[in-house]
Parts: sequence; structure tokens; C-alpha cells
Amino acid sequence: MEWFRRVLWMILVLHTASCYHKDHYYNNTIDPASLQLQEFRTEHPRPIGLLTISSGEPVEIRDTVTLNTEMFNRNFHPELTSHADRERIQERVVHAKGIGAYGYFEVTNDVSKYTKADVFNGVGKKTPLVGRFSTSIENLGGPELGRDLKGLSMKMYTREGNLDFLCLQPRVYFYRDPIMFAPLIRAFRRNPRTNLYDLTMVWDFISNRPQSLNAMLWLQSDVGIPNGYRKMNIFPAHTYEIYNKQGDRYYVKFNFISEQGQDNLTTIQAMAIAAQDQDYYSRDLYNAIAEKNYPAWRLEMDVMSLNDIKNIDYDPFDVTRLWKRGTYHTVEVGRVVINRRVENNFKDNEQAAYNPGNLVPGISGPQDYIFKARRIFYPDTQNYRLGVNHNKIEVNMPRYERTYNRDGVPPLRDNMKDAPNYYPNTFNGPVPYVDESRPKETLLILESQAEDLEPSNDFYHNVLEDDAHRQRVADNIASSLQNVVPSVLNNTLRVLTLTSADLGRRVTASLEALRAAAAKINPAERTRRIAQCIEMNLNPKY
Ligand code: HEM
Ligand SMILES: *[C@@H]1O[C@H](CO)[C@@H](O)[C@H](O)[C@H]1NC(C)=O
Ligand SMILES: *[C@@H]1O[C@H](CO)[C@@H](O)[C@H](O)[C@H]1NC(C)=O
Ligand SMILES: *[C@@H]1O[C@H](CO)[C@@H](O)[C@H](O)[C@H]1NC(C)=O
Repeated sequence: MEWFRRVLWMILVLHTASCYHKDHYYNNTIDPASLQLQEFRTEHPRPIGLLTISSGEPVEIRDTVTLNTEMFNRNFHPELTSHADRERIQERVVHAKGIGAYGYFEVTNDVSKYTKADVFNGVGKKTPLVGRFSTSIENLGGPELGRDLKGLSMKMYTREGNLDFLCLQPRVYFYRDPIMFAPLIRAFRRNPRTNLYDLTMVWDFISNRPQSLNAMLWLQSDVGIPNGYRKMNIFPAHTYEIYNKQGDRYYVKFNFISEQGQDNLTTIQAMAIAAQDQDYYSRDLYNAIAEKNYPAWRLEMDVMSLNDIKNIDYDPFDVTRLWKRGTYHTVEVGRVVINRRVENNFKDNEQAAYNPGNLVPGISGPQDYIFKARRIFYPDTQNYRLGVNHNKIEVNMPRYERTYNRDGVPPLRDNMKDAPNYYPNTFNGPVPYVDESRPKETLLILESQAEDLEPSNDFYHNVLEDDAHRQRVADNIASSLQNVVPSVLNNTLRVLTLTSADLGRRVTASLEALRAAAAKINPAERTRRIAQCIEMNLNPKY
């Protein structure tokens, strides 16, 4: 029998070696994501065990139907339905839709000169991590192909605690004053009466706080709709303070550069894909990992010394602007490789709590106002969303922890058993350490309240590489302005023109062209355009 089992096993292995399966009935190819259940059955040729209720009592087969029975006399049915009644937790207030995956970080260049962080020291050192790729404005079930900020969060399980990076695909963020978080996300999300996205709200906000225009321009540019999560560069945006063993401080911006290359979709391409697959980004990532085509990002950091930072003519802590070219140098650090799918989406993705304030010795972290606010408000929302013990949920657990926290809504793990629950104590509870090299002073950062249009102007004229790209940005903006009410349109065009006369002209012209075309559209033309869209959708050449 043993030889037979081995042969059977070989056949199974050979059969599953190629990920894409031919469906012999329809002769079409099935992608790995759609084969997940078949994969499970291949791994488990027999039922994985006896069915029980949650208390462990085995379920008798007659309890799996209810008709003509005393249906509440047994626990199986009431437990099944009551549990389903309670299975939702609140979705994240932003970045609700996302996909998780595991991987590792590997050091490729020794940066101990800049930081003593263990995770970044020692070429070849690997640190396990969990990642989460997300869209930012969409709700939990929403489509992924909108011109929406894409995110990549990473939690590195280092030997000195969890190190989290929360990254977005523009290099800049929307505002430097954290009080704008709630108003901005409201403006970008649904109108409270119509429950529809409302671009009048978006442009009303932006034209009143033009510091958000720079990130908005990034979003309207080619990188605004990357061709999948694997093909985007991604940035934590803040300027981080780091320090070495001698206590020298450096100021760095981290950049995660896709080894797959940055690839982009036009709005029309994205619309065509969305009509077929709203989960295109997640499916692409899932399938790539299943095919062992592991996506990777190179981590590099732009560096300035404490001395550099004091002698430049702009605010290097302002997250709404780029560092000026020529004022810093770039150092390679390592690479992130994503190579394992989550076992269960809720367990490893929905319950994950990424917190930019999770830092390690050697990285004292950003000092700007946005970051100070984020240190408070990420745990705040996670205490609400997951409970006060969210770091005891498996996916969030560091490799090592000994705290003076006790009790609260489960999970609790061992709740520190019988150890002293107050500090200080003389009974050998956990003790703090001394970090001789930790900075003894903190920078006092004062940021301007002024609405500076220069960073947006710089993006438009110097970061965008040519007029064709500037025109695409103008066209995307114009298309978002088509249904904006006149007063807000007026303010918006004024701000765009003040930012760059060329930008103002292009948007105005493009908007006029769109309106002229819309005025001419008759029902037959509309039908023809829809037919064209459908054709594009079916034709892979688009
Ligand atoms: C005042 C500024 C900000 C506030 C108040 C804020 C707030 C939030 C909140 C409440 C969440 C949901 C967290 C959860 O439920 O677990 C979130 C998620 C996220 N934020 Fe922010 N945010 C801010 C700025 C930023 C910046 C500057 C970045 C990056 C450049 C960023 C990137 C992300 C990402 C990637 C996520 C998704 C986390 C995940 O995958 O679970 N945010 N933010
Ligand atoms: C699938 O392809 C095989 C040959 O490759 C052919 O014999 C069969 O008829 C096809 N089935 C269908 C449903 O088209
Ligand atoms: C995507 O857009 C970025 C930014 O303009 C550009 O650098 C990159 O080459 C584009 N990728 C492709 C494949 O066109
Ligand atoms: C738009 O602004 C112009 C001046 O720049 C003004 O004359 C006009 O009345 C404004 N229109 C609206 C609808 O606010």
C-alpha cells in the first residue's frame, strides 16, 4: 500500500505543480485564486474532522436540517445563525478594502552608520513581516480600480519589537495640519444626503486648502492608477529621525521602489477592467504569489544629517512637499519580498492593526505634527475597531512583550499570569533598559500656516516629465470638474491658475472641450460609446 500512496502523492504533486488549470469542459484556464477550494481539497483528500458546535459537542446529522423538527431544541442551528448575525466588526474608517500577505525584509546594505536599528543592521539578515495592500476611500466591498490612493502597510516582526510602515503611492501627503484628517476624508467620501461621491465636496475642500493640491496632482497623474499593487512605488511620506550607536542623528525619507517596475493604467483601461473584475488588484497579487512570482520592493532612504537639516531653505518636515533635489543623498537599505498568502482573510488582514507609532530603538521617528497625531489616533481607532488588546491578536503580536497592561476585552493570552501588575515594584516585574545613544534633545518644529503653491507648481512643471503628461493630468482634472457647481469651479480654476498659468489654461480648455462634446451627445451616440466601451472591455489589446 505504501508504494501506492507514494505514487498517488507524486501524481498529486505533478498535478498541482502548474498553477493555472485547464477546465476540460469549457477549455478555459482557471486562475489560482478561483482554484482555492480545489487546492484545499487536494491538500485534504478526506474531510478534516468531525463537525462540532463551539462547545465541542459533535453535531448529529439530524440537527443539520430544521423542517418538521423542534428547531431550537438543539444548539447547532441557533448557534450558526446567531454567530453569523454578529460576524461583522466595523470596517476601517479609511483603507477598508485591502488584501493581506506575508513576506520578509532582507538587509542588502549595511546602514549601521545611520541607525542602530537591529532590523537594518547586518547584510543578509531576514525579518518576517505581514503586509496589507489597500485602497483608501472605497468601503470594504468596493471596487479597486478608482483613481484612489493605494496603500501598502507593513509590520516587521523585529527582535526589538514591531516596526510598522504605512505607505501611500504619492511621495507627498494631503495636508500638514492633522486637524484636516476628518474634513478631508469626509469631502472625499459620500455626500450625507445623496450617499454618492461628490466632486463638488472634493474640490471645495482642496480649493480652500490648496496645500492638498500637490497630492491631488500626483493622484491625477499616471501613477494615480497603478497597474496592480505589485507595480507601484510606495512611500511613508514623513521625514524620520534615526540615530546610530554613537547617538548621531540623521533625517531620512524611506522609499519602497517596486522591482516589478511602476506600471500605470489610464482611466479608460481601469474602467474596462473594473467592468469585469472589481477585485483586479487583489486577484493579481494573490495569483502572483500562488505562481511563486513573488513581488519585491527595494527599500532605500534619502538622507540628511542634523547639520544639513538646519541649513536648508525649506521645511524638510512638511509632508505636503518633496525634499529639494540636490539637498540629500540616497542609500540602499534592503528589500521586501512578499511570498506567502494569508491563511484566512479575517484573521490575518481584517484584524491587522498597523500603527506608524510602532518603532524600534535606532528609529526615534518623525517629529512633525501629522505624525504626532497619528501616534494617538491609530491606536484610538484600533481600540474601537478591535479592542484594547489588539496587539494580542495573533497577527499583531510582537516576537516578545512583557507589559504592565492587564485585563480588558479578550484576547488576553496569559494576562501576565501572577507577575506584579504595578510599576515600579521590588518584586521582579519587567524592568526598562537604558539606551545611551537615544537623542537627549528633541527638535522643536514649527510649521508654516501659509498655503504655499510652490510644491504643486514644482510637481507640475518639474516632476511631470513632459507636456503630454501635463495634458493627461489636466484632462483628468477637467473630467473630475464636469459636474462641480459654478462657485466651487470658479475657486478651483483660480487656485489651479495661481499654481501654474499653464495648468489653469489646460484644465479650462479641456473642460470646455468636454462640455462641448457632452452637449452634442445624442442617444444614438451614447449607445455607440457604450458599445465601444464593451468592446474595449472584451478586447485584450486595450
Ligand atoms: C493626521 C493624519 C492621518 C490620520 C489621522 C490617519 C488616520 C488613519 C486611520 C484612522 C486609519 C485606519 C486604521 C485602522 O483602522 O486600523 C488609517 C489607515 C491608513 N493610513 Fe492613515 N492617517 C493619517 C495620515 C496618513 C499618512 C501620512 C499615511 C502615509 C503616507 C497614511 C497611510 C495609511 C495607510 C496605508 C492606512 C491603511 C492601514 C491598513 O492597511 O490597515 N495615513 N489612517
Ligand atoms: C476542448 O478541447 C479538446 C481538444 O483540445 C476538444 O476535443 C474538445 O472538444 C474541447 N471541448 C470543448 C467544450 O470545446
Ligand atoms: C507610470 O508612470 C510613471 C510616472 O509618470 C512613469 O515613470 C512610468 O514610466 C510609467 N510606467 C509605464 C509602464 O508607463
Ligand atoms: C467667478 O469669478 C469671476 C471673477 O474671477 C466672477 O466675475 C464671477 O461672478 C464668478 N462666478 C461665480 C459663479 O461665482
